[in-house]
Amino acid sequence: MVPLKRRKVSWTGGASTSDSRDDASKFPQVVLFLLERKMGTSRRIFLTELGRKKGFRVDEVFTENVTHVISEKNSGDEVRGWLSSQGHGSTPAHLVDISWLTESLSAGCPAHILQRHRLTERQTSSRDEAAAFSMPVYACQRRTTLDHRNAVFTEALSLLAENAELSEDGGRAVAFRRAAATLKAFPEQVTDARQLRGCPCLGRHSLGVIQDILENGTSREVEATRRSERFQALKLLTGIFGVGTKTAAQWFREGIRNLPQLLQSGCALNGAQRAGVAHYDDLTQDVTKAEADVVGRIVEEAVGAELPGARVVLVGGFRRGKPSGHDVDFLITHPQEGREEGLIPKVVARLEARDFLLYHKSSRNSYAEANVAPARPARPARPASSMDHFERCLSIWKVPTPEPHSHRDDAAPRRGECRRWRAARVDLVVCPFSQFAFALLGWTGSKLFERELRRWAAHRKDMSLSSHALYDNKQREFLPAATEEEIFAHLALEYVPPSERNA
Ligand code: UTP
Ligand code: MN
Repeated sequence: MVPLKRRKVSWTGGASTSDSRDDASKFPQVVLFLLERKMGTSRRIFLTELGRKKGFRVDEVFTENVTHVISEKNSGDEVRGWLSSQGHGSTPAHLVDISWLTESLSAGCPAHILQRHRLTERQTSSRDEAAAFSMPVYACQRRTTLDHRNAVFTEALSLLAENAELSEDGGRAVAFRRAAATLKAFPEQVTDARQLRGCPCLGRHSLGVIQDILENGTSREVEATRRSERFQALKLLTGIFGVGTKTAAQWFREGIRNLPQLLQSGCALNGAQRAGVAHYDDLTQDVTKAEADVVGRIVEEAVGAELPGARVVLVGGFRRGKPSGHDVDFLITHPQEGREEGLIPKVVARLEARDFLLYHKSSRNSYAEANVAPARPARPARPASSMDHFERCLSIWKVPTPEPHSHRDDAAPRRGECRRWRAARVDLVVCPFSQFAFALLGWTGSKLFERELRRWAAHRKDMSLSSHALYDNKQREFLPAATEEEIFAHLALEYVPPSERNA
């Protein structure tokens, strides 16, 4: 496995731990503080360790003891803004650029502060310039939390993305998804399109939508799409479990717009689609975290009984902190590689015996046949794609509910009878232990975050990333990883925790 420097426990400590470093310092008059803003956590940690090794005192927390505030890619205004937000508006500390630190480190002592080390002020007279904001281009370089300030815009752009997906216009869909992701990561509420100058992935079309909303409160294009018969029908039809965009488009061409018309049409439905129709109402209701936890306990019990020592991890949107989702995803592995093989059929039999499954379709691991994993490490025959080859079970569950469930559909035992369950989609994925970190990263999402990781890997690092492995095309070798942190390190990306992958 790749050795990776771990954070010391003291990193989580506050001011008390940093003050105790006083004695160790070779330069008692100098107390450094590194601003994480724009520098990023891993670089700050790296530079702090390096500074301390060279005998500098580097504090974790800003206090009045600090003599030098060191930052990277920030203007004087930005640093002062940060300091006042922390209640230290008028510090006498020097505000210096990272170049001062690197020169001091190579000199082995604090360098004289020259003019070029001092942070320059940025013009704040013009609103445009003040707002010019630098955002990294790839969503995997950014931290995107669930709460953000631009929902009106992101919802509008996401609807256009969804419409493009339903129309199988993948390129356009991704463009809208990227634009929405930029707004999710934008730190302030957008009230003027000029604020977005310099932001990546905002094409003319997306900017036009934003401008329309700013001027009129809504976007005409978005509202027209939302109301269009085609969008509504395709959304409804693809909302049926087992129905993809191609099938839905075919049905639409045949004049089918809704469920009653579909059933009347006499169209042949496959098993998945029949289950999807039978449980349509339940499956179009989001699954809550509480329901996901109920499923999680049942999965853990079944997996534990069949394969003691196996690990079950809740992945997908719930791992990113979402309060609800369209399904529940679990990743399962065992520390002894090989023990996990063939686990799905056993777990499914156990779940069926307990009457939890309304529908399931399992597939075995096909990684070896997929021609992506040659016996001897060599360049994978195919570029890494979002398709993976794990042993897997796609299922619809009866999830026990505490309250009797109201129902309007045909899924109840008898009409008028109460049931204490709801139908919900559950995905079980089994992976070999050596691929666990990759599978975990791949199955945590969001989909755009994953796509951006793969794009970063391919375009910036000449590597192929999948949910199975990371391959270095230049070195012609697979890069192993036991943790997600190691994969980010291989990709020379700052680690982004799951809750900040909501791009
Ligand atoms: P989901 O489609 O379940 O998305 O896939 P989600 O983020 O959990 O959204 P909700 O909350 O259910 O609505 C979860 C992750 O698993 C990956 C996707 O790329 C996504 O990142 N995934 C999904 C795969 O790698 N392969 C698949 O076949 C399906
Ligand atoms: Mn999911």
